[in-house]
Amino acid sequence: MIRDLDEGEIRALHFELLLKDIIATAERLPPFPDVAWKVAALIRKSAPAKEIEAVIRSDPRIAAGVLTLGQSGHYGRNARLGSVEDAVVLLESGKLVEIILSASASRYFEGEGGEQEMKHTEVWKHSVAAAVAAEITARKLKDRKALTVFTASLLHDIGKTVLDLYKKIYIDSRICEAARENAPLIDLESTALGINHQELGEHICRRWRFPPEVVSAVGNHHCPQKAASDPHIAAMVHAANVMARAAEKNRDKESVTLEPARDPFFIRLGISEKMTAEIMEELELAMDDIHLFLVSC
Ligand SMILES: [Fe+2]
Ligand SMILES: [Fe+2]
Repeated sequence: MIRDLDEGEIRALHFELLLKDIIATAERLPPFPDVAWKVAALIRKSAPAKEIEAVIRSDPRIAAGVLTLGQSGHYGRNARLGSVEDAVVLLESGKLVEIILSASASRYFEGEGGEQEMKHTEVWKHSVAAAVAAEITARKLKDRKALTVFTASLLHDIGKTVLDLYKKIYIDSRICEAARENAPLIDLESTALGINHQELGEHICRRWRFPPEVVSAVGNHHCPQKAASDPHIAAMVHAANVMARAAEKNRDKESVTLEPARDPFFIRLGISEKMTAEIMEELELAMDDIHLFLVSC
């Protein structure tokens, strides 16, 4: 016997289909380029510069990004850098891999014009700021996993690039409400869409075959204590996210004071008030270069 679905069943069905659609959209993202990993492997075995250059040149967009980013102030403003081979020879190897990762990631933060493009640009700007904050923090803490922290910070909000479309349809008005009430955005995403941007980011990074600690840090950057694999990396990404957000607000003249002594993850990582102030100063100086990243990649 066929019966009509009641209101609760229709809602549940709608919710299930919506979640399937979100996941399907995320799974349509093209694979993450493997140029950075190939270059890192060649650097490890001290391969000739020509060989490394050939790998970078295999993706013209990444090659162009390497040239522009390599000349930026944050990476030493090296005016002698006129070719990809120069970049391979002149840039410190860790920096070269970071630049390739940034040039590889930028394509996922492009919108298709209008409001979506503006939102994606904002997320990209924030992602690069977080990656730079992570790099500065890792350097100051002499963290041996600096590249992992950089990668996870660069991709920590990748889930937003997919969720933004659905958020616009389903929850934009409620996002404003939540912001007024200081309610966590991820809770609102979970309630309205059945998945939040950190969970979706985790799914995307796993499909892209990033190492488990990157996947786990992306999936828990708002709750690093829950990271199953290497909670230290997740805590570093959390700190980078907080500092990037504060630097952006300061830039927009909404003065923000960070309180590292009250953040358990800053305390656990050993990021003191003095160190926070130093990182923020360096990060804010790098923000102009971040704009260069945006137009160049
Ligand atoms: Fe986030
Ligand atoms: Fe973020």
